[in-house]
Amino acid sequence: MTEALDVVILAAGKGTRMVSDRPKVLHKLAGKSMLQHVVDTASTLEPARICVIYGFGGEQVPSAIQDPEIKFVKQEPQLGTGHAVQQAIPYLDESHVALILYGDVPLIQHATLKALVALAKKGHVGLLTVELFEPQGYGRIVREGGEILRIVEHKDANQAELGIREVNTGIMAIPNRHLTKWLHSLTNQNAQGEYYLTDVIELAKNDGVKITACMPDNAWEVTGVNSRAQLEQLERQYQRERAQKLMDAGVSLNDASRFDVRGTLTCGNDVEIDINCLFEGTVTLGDAVQVGANCVLKDVTVASGTRIEAFTHIEQASVGRDCKIGPYARIRPGSVLSDEVHIGNFVELKNSQIGFNSKINHLSYIGDSTVGSKVNIGAGAITCNYDGANKFRTVIEDGAFIGSDTQLIAPVTVGKGATIGAGSTITKDAPGGELTLSRSKQVSIPGWKRPVKTPLDKTSKE
Ligand code: UD1
Ligand code: MG
Repeated sequence: MTEALDVVILAAGKGTRMVSDRPKVLHKLAGKSMLQHVVDTASTLEPARICVIYGFGGEQVPSAIQDPEIKFVKQEPQLGTGHAVQQAIPYLDESHVALILYGDVPLIQHATLKALVALAKKGHVGLLTVELFEPQGYGRIVREGGEILRIVEHKDANQAELGIREVNTGIMAIPNRHLTKWLHSLTNQNAQGEYYLTDVIELAKNDGVKITACMPDNAWEVTGVNSRAQLEQLERQYQRERAQKLMDAGVSLNDASRFDVRGTLTCGNDVEIDINCLFEGTVTLGDAVQVGANCVLKDVTVASGTRIEAFTHIEQASVGRDCKIGPYARIRPGSVLSDEVHIGNFVELKNSQIGFNSKINHLSYIGDSTVGSKVNIGAGAITCNYDGANKFRTVIEDGAFIGSDTQLIAPVTVGKGATIGAGSTITKDAPGGELTLSRSKQVSIPGWKRPVKTPLDKTSKE
């Protein structure tokens, strides 16, 4: 009995209908290339080897995937699916089974592949098929008395065969000892003058090897992409599946069709997500987190009870429990917010720690700062962390009050419980517990007149 698995992913085609300079398999679904989806799913089967057959677009495919575990094999010219798999022969171990996947069929699932591979491990040819109402273009599964005889391509099929609704998905699993032999005997005597991988089915039949079809759990798993419109449809299908799974797990979505995950979104109980939100990378939302409309969260952790108001953008940050963020807040990489923090509209944070129950409610920029607990930062206050060449830190200790429109010129420390008068430019450390301000005295100039426009002298035009 064969045990180990070699995966071969066909990805050499141009994808003419994408109308693109990029190979089709590098177009993205849910923020990740179609080929990467297939590679990631294949990896869950723990194969001995993954071999990607590439061709169109030169080295774009190997350089986009960048995985030392993958063997990239160039197919040039591209003479058909059988010819593509022939390129992998040097890397197929006779005692293993091969699983053949398509780089443009991105949503194939682990469970379906596992079932198919199990057939090959029993010595069968495992063939993944589906029944379609509109089978145009696909290879048809020709059976006699229920047994699979061969696959006939659409362009080679006769009238009776064109009526067959069971089609080849292209995905199959075959013991390598048979596959390599059959690949060597393929010919290109067909309507397209190509070496068809599908011809191995008839060779299997002739050799008395059992051919067993199995069907995917979901029809969308085997949907291939040939155009940008099909890619968009499959993206929606994928997002709908993700949304459905989250709702099943107790997440409320105001509109599942206006919700996108490009990565992994993990939610606690009773999370509520309003329309048009985008979650990228790894996002974790704790219990009862509420996300308002039009938010973008990328590589973010949010603890329970926090409310993120509309139009907020957070990236590479962590937000504590029971915080109130936004609307219109921007929290940039390296920011860590403790519990019960309030960040209001048009506030930008970068690489800053904000302590328990501190408030930055309006129009601020706080960068490279350590802010203690129960600090209040007034409207328009900013840190000046950059002198044009280097960046410096600002430290604001517990309980400090920073008046509106203050500029804190880093490096600078505002001591515990200090108050900074509004409109100050703070260049030196401000002592704890004291009022510090750097404002010039207000003066009124009696008799001062506003300037008026000088009338044009019409005689001197020159
Ligand atoms: C193939 C199958 C057909 C099946 C259909 C499912 C064959 C002969 N036909 O037809 O039975 O119903 O897929 O979608 O196998 N590729 C290469 N090198 C090549 C040719 C193709 O790497 O020389 C790759 C393509 O990039 C693509 C895949 O193989 O990922 C399938 O090729 P495609 O030309 O789309 O095959 P179909 O004619 O659709
Ligand atoms: Mg195709």
